[in-house]
Amino acid sequence: MDETRHQYIPALRFGWLTRLYDPVIRWTMREDLFKPRLVEQVGMQPGHRVLDLGCGTATLTILLKQHQPQSTIVGLDGDPVVLARAREKAAEAGVDISFDEGMAYQLPYPDRSFDRVVASLLLHHLTLDNKRRALRETFRVLKPGGQLHIVDFGRPHTFLMACASLIVRWLEEAYEHVKGMVPGLIREAGFTHVEETGRYTTGFGTLVLTRSVKPERGAGGIERRNGTS
Ligand SMILES: C[S@@+](CC[C@H](N)C(=O)[O-])C[C@H]1O[C@@H](n2cnc3c(N)ncnc32)[C@H](O)[C@@H]1O
Repeated sequence: MDETRHQYIPALRFGWLTRLYDPVIRWTMREDLFKPRLVEQVGMQPGHRVLDLGCGTATLTILLKQHQPQSTIVGLDGDPVVLARAREKAAEAGVDISFDEGMAYQLPYPDRSFDRVVASLLLHHLTLDNKRRALRETFRVLKPGGQLHIVDFGRPHTFLMACASLIVRWLEEAYEHVKGMVPGLIREAGFTHVEETGRYTTGFGTLVLTRSVKPERGAGGIERRNGTS
């Protein structure tokens, strides 16, 4: 078996919990609030190609397609079980979405092939090294001027959120998140205009929404990789 198949953390940490993912996220993470907000923020135009990285059961992927039916939406996830549920949900919703099995840190797409990349609750599943690789891969597959929209755990903004974040910090790869290091990692991959656009109190800690931009080509024909936020 391909060894990369094992290199992901399933949606709820343990594969046998995947079938409970949708209700758990709905009840604990204020999904009804932050996913529609993320969809608005993505700013899709007709003809855009959008990648939902770590799409899980495709709740967000479907919202994206419904919001802009004239876009092409691709959902990628490392877990074939969760992808089967994603395909079922897309069929039930009557939307046309492509789903690919693959690793966020080794994307099966050519350079500059997407206008937008979204990553909802994915990064805290990746080791620090794989977060860096996934962000570099995202930079590669975005067109110049394309945008990356991330929602994931961030530095807890209250004592209660610091306590709530202990579970994901213990079970998953959330250390850099609770230390507030994610914006720095995004910049390190070459993105500019990295800005926090929203913050949510949830059952597992503070969720932070960010928007980042892949720079247009510089005057010398070289993409500027170091910008300000
Ligand atoms: C917490 S779920 C988030 C799902 C969805 N984006 C959402 O917001 O509900 C994280 C997803 O990332 C996927 N994942 C984890 N590591 C991955 C990797 N290295 N490559 C691709 N997908 C990965 C998991 O299989 C899971 O479906």
